[in-house]
Amino acid sequence: MAAFPGPDEADLVDALRRDPSWLDQLSVVAVTDLAERELVVAHALLTRLRIGQDEGLALAPVAVAPEWQGKGVGRLVVQAALDAADAAGERLVVVLGDPNYYRHFGFTPASRHEVTGPFPVRDEYFQALPLSSYDGRPRGLCRYPTPFEAS
Ligand SMILES: CC(C)(COP(=O)(O)OP(=O)(O)OC[C@H]1O[C@@H](n2cnc3c(N)ncnc32)[C@H](O)[C@@H]1OP(=O)(O)O)[C@@H](O)C(=O)NCCC(=O)NCCS
Repeated sequence: MAAFPGPDEADLVDALRRDPSWLDQLSVVAVTDLAERELVVAHALLTRLRIGQDEGLALAPVAVAPEWQGKGVGRLVVQAALDAADAAGERLVVVLGDPNYYRHFGFTPASRHEVTGPFPVRDEYFQALPLSSYDGRPRGLCRYPTPFEAS
């Protein structure tokens, strides 16, 4: 994980893995086996979060090792995680990040779905993606898994 944007992110991933919000089948990593050694070069994590009285998924963190950026790996891991969530019957995914990046996957401002985040950011940075099973819910305020509070 040394190639990722700093120790904070590696600590967050470790804490999420130990947290009840962790969903083994919904986190995607890309590995390379260059030099006969498996190395994680990207990850896209989906963890369980509360949204109002319901539940949804949080996409975070998403990261690609610097030397692998701009080659489509980010797109691959994020789309794979979203496809897995869709296949599992999940309804809504939220993400905090650059709308210019996440619109590639169909994310739009979460406020359009009556979903609000706990972050003091401009509206377009907190986004949501309704999946096939979305039925107008979940709606309300998102409560992120505890490990995010320390990050
Ligand atoms: C942001 C990040 C996850 C993107 O992954 P990536 O593998 O480099 O991106 P991809 O090659 O899959 O790019 C997919 C598309 O998004 C675009 N894109 C890539 N990074 C972008 C960014 N930071 N902002 C806007 N668009 C971006 C690409 O141009 C590409 O668009 P195109 O297909 O129309 O050309 C990765 O660069 C990264 O880890 N950066 C550092 C950590 C970070 O900023 N994380 C927060 C994400 S908001």
